[in-house]
Amino acid sequence: MGEVDSGRARGPEGADPLRPTGEETVVTIDGPAGAGKSTTAREVARRLGYRYLDSGALYRALTHALLAEGVPADRWPELDRDTLDRLAVEVVPGAGTLMLWHRGRRLTDELRTDRVNAHVSLVARLPVVREWLLGHQRALGALGRLVTDGRDMGTVVFPSAGTKVFLVADLEERARRRLTEQGSDGADDAELRRAASRLSERDEIDSTRETAPLRAASDAVVIDTTTLDFEEQVGRVVDLARKRRPSR
Ligand code: DC
Repeated sequence: MGEVDSGRARGPEGADPLRPTGEETVVTIDGPAGAGKSTTAREVARRLGYRYLDSGALYRALTHALLAEGVPADRWPELDRDTLDRLAVEVVPGAGTLMLWHRGRRLTDELRTDRVNAHVSLVARLPVVREWLLGHQRALGALGRLVTDGRDMGTVVFPSAGTKVFLVADLEERARRRLTEQGSDGADDAELRRAASRLSERDEIDSTRETAPLRAASDAVVIDTTTLDFEEQVGRVVDLARKRRPSR
């Protein structure tokens, strides 16, 4: 994975030498699929003027690259660091966010195809993949002023993050949100049940894997978003981050 140029990777508001950087200004948002992490994290980052890292997109980019390069899934357990390096997935700092590129192409829709959705949990549970991504994620966090969402951001990747949040929501509500994201109105019961069962399978794989399972950090603030609207979710996290931000 390409290294980040720290000069270009400053927050969108530019560097302020009086403000602390590093993990104390990192905001982690973990939780199960469909709890609203990504949309919340992106907006929290915008309001704080921090950069946003979608860590799930890193696992998705690797999954896309493995599939695109024709590495058969039954060989993934034998992957090593050199093979991962050769996949040539790059993280490129953009305005307020971090973009993912593969072989000269920016990855967007490729990260959320059915094929990637179906394989990403398998990739995410490989210890070599997690270890390989750890260094890259920490290098981004060391630059400070980062909002990042995932499954292990507060527990494993940034154990000293200044603000840690764990978002949860009822399974049915998460399924409804997923369908709405995909353009459906979420009103068809059978469709809703199928979406809920896919989410619960993903939760099961993510929370029972041996390496970095999904769980709340002991110092994370748990927010149940089932009955919160988007504005309330974002507001709560921004308030927490502002309260915990070290004084200048
Ligand atoms: O949040 P998402 O659906 O984009 O995540 C894709 C997959 O990656 C999902 O199986 C969970 C996994 N993941 C992880 O294990 N650790 C993270 N920090 C982020 C995502």
